[in-house]
Amino acid sequence: MKYLIVANWKMNPQTMAEAERLFISVKNGIKNIKNVEVVICPPFVYLSALLNPKSYILNPKIGAQDSFWENPPTGGGAFTGEVSPKMLRNVGCRYVIIGHSERRRYLNETDEMVNKKLKAALKNDLKPVLCIENISQVKKGLKGILKEGLKNMVIAYEPVFAIGTGKPCSPEKAEKMRKAIKSAINTDIPILYGGSVNSQNAGDYIEKAKFQGLLVGGASLNPQEFLRIVQNID
Ligand code: 13P
Repeated sequence: MKYLIVANWKMNPQTMAEAERLFISVKNGIKNIKNVEVVICPPFVYLSALLNPKSYILNPKIGAQDSFWENPPTGGGAFTGEVSPKMLRNVGCRYVIIGHSERRRYLNETDEMVNKKLKAALKNDLKPVLCIENISQVKKGLKGILKEGLKNMVIAYEPVFAIGTGKPCSPEKAEKMRKAIKSAINTDIPILYGGSVNSQNAGDYIEKAKFQGLLVGGASLNPQEFLRIVQNID
């Protein structure tokens, strides 16, 4: 099994030129990587440019940072400002981050919304990366999602105290949570760690805490640092 490293660019960078530069540096830097699947999640506005031409984008794969929960038969509808999972799949996205703590906090996303978003994403052949910080969010987020659906998902443990603070969770504590998630879902899917990951600590979450990958925020905006993380895990 390959390790999975997902880059969450959040609301960065501010220009298409910077996004392209960052993307190309990563793309070139992972050419010889064998044991890691790399996924880049840029803001919506850059997706189609980075996915063009679609057929080239197998490495890194591209994901979105969110998608809407409504899934009408046509895929579309009157939902101003929202982006459907079908649109994302049609431009070539493979993954989508759902339930990030920043959306729960600033946009009041609830477990019920997260649950509906997961179901809509799965129906449209996107692999959701469900972000959680406790077991209640795992259980509520996955309500009614059967094993077949679960098998196409990824779960990321992201303790809020560690996000963007430079204060990562200890590998021991993170491992306890990984085990608790695993026993709650009782299915073998990738469980990632996220929160102040850098090239110094990345290996600990894989070797000591036995995560199958990482969800990287700030460090993914610096191509040299991000590539060091990927190379260390490879
Ligand atoms: P940082 O790596 O910047 O702490 O962010 C983690 C995160 O939220 C990734 O989704």
